Amino acid sequence: MRSPTTTRVFVLLAATASLTPPATAQAPAAVAALTPPRITQAMLTSGTLPLDTIRTHGLRMFATPFRKADGYGDGPMNPLDPTSPGGRPTLQNNGTFLRINGLDAQTCMECHSIVSAATVPFTFGIGGVGGANNNAMAMPTAIDVSDAQGNGFAAFNGRFINPPFLFGAGGIELIGKEMTTELQARKQFAQQHPNTPVPLVTKGVDFGTITYAQGVFDTSQVVGIDADLVVRPFGRKGEFRSTRDFDVSAMQFHFGLQPVEVVGTNDADGDGVTLEVLVGELSALSIFATTLERPVERPVPGAHQGRQVFAAIGCVDCHRPRLDSSSPLLTYSFPEVPDDPAANPYYAVDLRAVGPRFAPSPGGGIRVECFSDLKRHDMGPGLAESNGGPLASQFVTARLWGVADTAPYLHDGRALTLSDAILMHGGEALPARNAFAGLPNFRQEQLLAFLKSLRTPRNPADGLDTSTL
Ligand code: HEC
Ligand code: HEC
Repeated sequence: MRSPTTTRVFVLLAATASLTPPATAQAPAAVAALTPPRITQAMLTSGTLPLDTIRTHGLRMFATPFRKADGYGDGPMNPLDPTSPGGRPTLQNNGTFLRINGLDAQTCMECHSIVSAATVPFTFGIGGVGGANNNAMAMPTAIDVSDAQGNGFAAFNGRFINPPFLFGAGGIELIGKEMTTELQARKQFAQQHPNTPVPLVTKGVDFGTITYAQGVFDTSQVVGIDADLVVRPFGRKGEFRSTRDFDVSAMQFHFGLQPVEVVGTNDADGDGVTLEVLVGELSALSIFATTLERPVERPVPGAHQGRQVFAAIGCVDCHRPRLDSSSPLLTYSFPEVPDDPAANPYYAVDLRAVGPRFAPSPGGGIRVECFSDLKRHDMGPGLAESNGGPLASQFVTARLWGVADTAPYLHDGRALTLSDAILMHGGEALPARNAFAGLPNFRQEQLLAFLKSLRTPRNPADGLDTSTL
């Protein structure tokens, strides 16, 4: 009679034997997470795909956890440039993640997923904010965790950036493009009227003046924007003109996925995968991102008075309650030409009719109640980033729509409450900050009640369903 133990050993051996591959078998082919059909620019512009199908392809780009077979990761380390995407080392040679300086996630959703941080538990959804553990840490080369330098703080020479949400991005992109077009027209006007400082005011926002003299433009009086007069509302520092502009870098930085529109059809990062992100896929991603729902206002007691306090103490100088567009149509371009947003259009969406369904503006466009001027401001030494540079203390005015739901606040998430965020304002915002600090308590409460009425959308990717692909 065999003992039970012997039987078990036998069964185990038999199982092992059946798992032993025959000598001719291949390793299973690496399978990409992004399943066919992959959307191409030709499919997108053919006019045969319904908008929601295009958006769903974009959602898949946003929410798929990419794998190495999709092109995830960089190729072999490039000793000449070990920090830029393409040839970064991985953490402890693990072959996959780095976390600090990118290679920090498999999907956009890892960082953009909190629709409300004001509920317990959080309300999760597509395109939201991230907590501090989702912060991107860009380009550091030295981190002094134990304060070996004796500064009294842990030094870090990179950027530490908290993820904002994508809600309402279509309205922001449309307003930014219209502002750019108007500023470029002012620039032409200056060229036609030499030696005359031409005011750069668009949609009520003042970007200083430009003068044309002796055959060159003098841009020394341009403020809050780059000298090329292109409005860049995206990124905490106002560095990206459109979501597509941002997404190209996001794919490379976070995932080591190389877009065809940047590297062509060859295997630029040497990871054995080509055609990692198609032109059509980035188009679908940008159409998806710009048709997400927009933030909304929901009544809170005291908010009405708080809105008046917000205006009276000068918060509205930067946090402009609304920016109106003259057209309701957001046009998408490829390739994008920074100073000519109308160039190379391939698709257009009426932002009144779909997705964010913005309210109409009196001029026939849309009303974007975002509480920002889309302009950079100097916020003083307290908020300056340690990586130095001329823009260290400059940030584009945070859009306050949805702010009730998006703690932590400020570019790196250092403010855990709304009142901390206000009290940490410095530089150009110091007078308004001091006015807030000097208000009687009940007025401060009213202002905070107003901010708490600014909510994120409940269902940001309404109607999209990946199971339909
Ligand atoms: C590791 C976290 C992380 C991942 C992953 C991530 N993001 Fe972000 N995202 C951020 C941070 C941080 C910012 C702010 C960056 C800045 O200020 O320059 C940001 C900003 C953005 C913005 C600009 C929003 C605005 O209003 O300024 C867009 C658009 C965006 N991300 C899209 C994406 C897409 C698309 C992906 C996937 C390809 C992605 N993100 C993946 C952290 C992340
Ligand atoms: C000079 C322009 C300016 C003025 C005036 C100003 N702000 Fe700001 N505000 C900013 C900028 C720029 C940021 C983003 C700073 C950062 O990311 O570090 C910001 C961020 C914020 C935030 C955090 C938002 C977020 O999502 O992180 C709140 C809340 C806020 N401001 C409220 C106010 C209030 C209330 C007032 C009036 C007392 C005010 N601000 C006045 C420019 C201004």
